[in-house]
Amino acid sequence: MAEPITLALSKGRIFEETVPLLRHAGIEPAEDPESSRRLILETNRPGVRIVIVRASDVPTYVQYGAADIGVAGKDVLMEHGGDGLYEPVDLGIAACRLMVAGRAGEAEPPRGRRRIATKYVHTTRRYYAEKGEQVEIIKLYGSMELAPLVGLADAIVDVVDTGNTLRANGLEPQEHIADISSRLVVNRAAMKVKHDALGGIISAFREAVGGE
Ligand code: ADP
Ligand code: PRP
Ligand code: MG
Repeated sequence: MAEPITLALSKGRIFEETVPLLRHAGIEPAEDPESSRRLILETNRPGVRIVIVRASDVPTYVQYGAADIGVAGKDVLMEHGGDGLYEPVDLGIAACRLMVAGRAGEAEPPRGRRRIATKYVHTTRRYYAEKGEQVEIIKLYGSMELAPLVGLADAIVDVVDTGNTLRANGLEPQEHIADISSRLVVNRAAMKVKHDALGGIISAFREAVGGE
């Protein structure tokens, strides 16, 4: 009997973009998380199950071994720090950029300590520390684009894809922090203990995205 494997995924774009890669590994989820309220999904492969968690919680589930393997955005991994995780494959899915954005056409940035609103507090602190700029960071959980419009912050740090959300709110990208895509993450201890089962899945993912 093969070792049981638990895979952590988030609903929405990561689940949708991971399903074709899973199919390549011969794994089909038994249910669609958009229509089911279940948080543990069985698959066609006995011993392989999927747990549905918040995107920003994927590294935590995998770090503590509650899931053996997962898919998480590089933005989320940078913020988490990557402790206890092995990051073997860049899946190239959910591609976007982590950027600083502010009000369009604002001639010069406000004087003094700028206020930056973001859910990426650690990454933002690190970014400005490396630039040697003192900023005040305001933690938000979503709708960051609103903050500069109502005077909560001078700028935001968030992911940008088409730029439509920024434009729709009179904001523009100002600084590029990192290119982002989603990565396969694996629990370091599980990688040793469940080497055969995980190795097979990792190779199938790597092949599915065109790697060796
Ligand atoms: P959340 O509930 O955390 O917003 P999402 O499913 O929207 O979850 O985002 C999951 C990951 O997808 C993010 O960590 C990021 O890497 C990537 N992502 C977020 N927004 C976009 C976007 N507009 N286009 C492409 N990728 C995105
Ligand atoms: C994400 C992100 C931005 C937007 C950027 O939001 O937080 O708001 O996408 O994409 P764009 O440049 O193509 O407009 P998402 O769609 O994930 O909604 P959310 O607020 O539910 O996370
Ligand atoms: Mg989102």
